[in-house]
Amino acid sequence: MKILVVGGGGREHALVWKIAQSPLVSKIYCAPGNAGIAELAECFPISVSDIPALAKFAEENAIDLTVVGSEAPLTLGIVDYFEGRGMRIVGPSASCARIEGSKIFAKRLMQNYGIPTAEFWEAQSLQEGIAHLNAYYSTRSHATPIVIKADGLAAGKGVTVAQNRDEALLALQTMMGDMAFGEAGSRVVIEECLFGEEASIIAITDGYDLVPLVPTQDHKRIGEGDTGPNTGGMGAYSPVPAVSQEIVEEAVERILRPAIQAIADLGIPYRGFLYAGIMITEDGIKTIEFNCRLGDPETQVIIPLLKSDLVPLLLGSTDCTLGQAPVEWHDYAATTVVASSGGYPGKFQMGKEIKGLEKLRDSKECVVFHSGTTLQDGKPVTSGGRVLCVTGIGSTIMDSVANAYIGLSNLDFEGMYYRKDIATRALRHLSDE
Ligand code: AMP
Ligand code: GLY
Repeated sequence: MKILVVGGGGREHALVWKIAQSPLVSKIYCAPGNAGIAELAECFPISVSDIPALAKFAEENAIDLTVVGSEAPLTLGIVDYFEGRGMRIVGPSASCARIEGSKIFAKRLMQNYGIPTAEFWEAQSLQEGIAHLNAYYSTRSHATPIVIKADGLAAGKGVTVAQNRDEALLALQTMMGDMAFGEAGSRVVIEECLFGEEASIIAITDGYDLVPLVPTQDHKRIGEGDTGPNTGGMGAYSPVPAVSQEIVEEAVERILRPAIQAIADLGIPYRGFLYAGIMITEDGIKTIEFNCRLGDPETQVIIPLLKSDLVPLLLGSTDCTLGQAPVEWHDYAATTVVASSGGYPGKFQMGKEIKGLEKLRDSKECVVFHSGTTLQDGKPVTSGGRVLCVTGIGSTIMDSVANAYIGLSNLDFEGMYYRKDIATRALRHLSDE
């Protein structure tokens, strides 16, 4: 079978790495790929958003299955386009991908199906937003945090957790007055701020059956101790001591399954990966967001923990045979640490030579997934904000953390930065037990 993976980050490298181990697969292509993916797949420089070019490529190369990593092509309708031409592809249709593409769509869906989430208000104009804030703060201290979310995709920057009324007003003004995120900010969701531990619960579904993947915890902020601006994610680990099997089951029954049912009731089954970002609060679990795809860097720990072949699960999600695919997990732990370019998530330089990769090529304790790399004169160089993800494997979380950092100590590029505290919350949790 020939498989095309669409994307070029660490998530797609982990997918390609696992697909390459499947006896069902004879050849893997990736568009656009990166320097690490190029060792396992034939890479083509087609943008993830150029859907007609991707479809033409898939047709010409007789691709049997296409797997899409990121939300942009999914919300643009890559699944509809491929399926319309009779090609098999893993992922939700554009209509279903609105669960990530529109916060208002997701919040209304949760409200209508009793899916636990933060209380919220919609605003279609700056005046309406200010009126909601005034009403909210009329009964509370002005120092109460509140969350302002642009309705559409804003490259991960559309959410402001405002610490008080003034910050909330500024965020509203930036989104709706200054239109800092363009059209994405023409409608906003204002929502109550939740407190607790965040976790990512991701499942694969064929629209009816659902298989939950192991839970993970991401580290979104750039700085140690969860400080500084938000990023795409600086590290992740699994298993998560704060997420018991009961919490996973509750997330499946109260969040993921009702969401899939809600979308099926709209007339189009949701297929592919569905990601619930949850907060474990004192009042139980609440949904922070849905994503219509796998997480990055969550995938870089989920995939190495999957013992079964990934390909039957991918195929099963496309033709309602998910229930027949075997699912087994390794009973060890995985931690991934992201090495980023200095300056990220602000301005950073690219084209820096990456040294030391060959030392980890045959490692049993860690796997290096490339996020933002490219080949220049045959050598890997940096080409993005997040550059490498080093996933450590170990029999305990502590061992997996140690192996990730030992792996990282072999690598170097000018300006390389990584957080030194990935998974420390898990280690603290375990020492409290
Ligand atoms: P989202 O894009 O909706 O996932 O939001 C990005 C990040 O903002 C989340 O991962 C949370 O850390 C934070 N966040 C979003 N909504 C809330 C909320 N209601 N309460 C507290 N933090 C939130
Ligand atoms: N790591 C968060 C995400 O993929 O959305």
